[in-house]
Amino acid sequence: MKSNNPNSDQPLVSLDEWEDDLLRRYPKPTLDAAASFRNYAAEARPSVKEFYRLNHQNQTLDFVKHKREHYLSLNQRRMGIWDAMEYLNTLVDDSDPDIDLPQIEHLLQTAEAIRKAGRPRWYILTGLIHDLGKILCLWDEPQWAVVGDTFPVGCRYSEKIVFYEAFHANEDFHNVRYQTELGIYESGCGLDQVLLSWGHDEYLYHVVKDFLPLPGLYMIRYHSCYPIHREHAYQSLLNDRDREMFVWVNDFNQYDLYTKRDERMDVATLRPFYEELIAEFFPRQIEW
Ligand SMILES: [Fe+2]
Ligand SMILES: [Fe+2]
Repeated sequence: MKSNNPNSDQPLVSLDEWEDDLLRRYPKPTLDAAASFRNYAAEARPSVKEFYRLNHQNQTLDFVKHKREHYLSLNQRRMGIWDAMEYLNTLVDDSDPDIDLPQIEHLLQTAEAIRKAGRPRWYILTGLIHDLGKILCLWDEPQWAVVGDTFPVGCRYSEKIVFYEAFHANEDFHNVRYQTELGIYESGCGLDQVLLSWGHDEYLYHVVKDFLPLPGLYMIRYHSCYPIHREHAYQSLLNDRDREMFVWVNDFNQYDLYTKRDERMDVATLRPFYEELIAEFFPRQIEW
């Protein structure tokens, strides 16, 4: 899970490091423009650059198909949503406990911010569960196959993807069939037909897809797809439903990105509210 060795398969000291880099790239809007600019101008840490390098090199169409085959039959285990939150919390990184909160607190911070904003109950629940797909890390998946910006595979990599130059080492980059604008897809086919790089978003979408309304499912499935929801790349793949639903994905992003470390969460006090919310939408156990 952790390593200080830059040649390792696991360059991030903690999974949060990628999200910290998102904050560098997309600083919280502030009235102090100079502060935002300074943030944005900063370089990614070497560990994060190495993480992007591995991600871009290894996320090929074949790799994605292979992971989908392995995980999307959902035969890893049966457990409830709260069980999965506690299970994810067993993920221990070699991180600074003053800076990096337990995973369960990021989930509660996101959900509580949505709740305070007076959003619907399904939306609060979406915030609570959106990162549970990170349990892939507990099954020995490398960091670059769990977190990181997601992007379509099987078509040309957008230059708007962070650290684009690292795609030169990806074998699909040299396959002409996969490097046209549309690649293996049709214009306007809709993202449901498009394979994205493998990670926690797509996995969790398949686990929960029968239980939440469509906007919540889009938030879960595409919240790491910064090339589309922040950079507006790949527009030729989208259909009308995607364009409508990405308004929700964008709305969700503020709660995901800008609530981290706001305040510590009192898990025991919050638990009854969330157990009831979970029971409103989910059976006691689901397939993972
Ligand atoms: Fe996430
Ligand atoms: Fe998140």
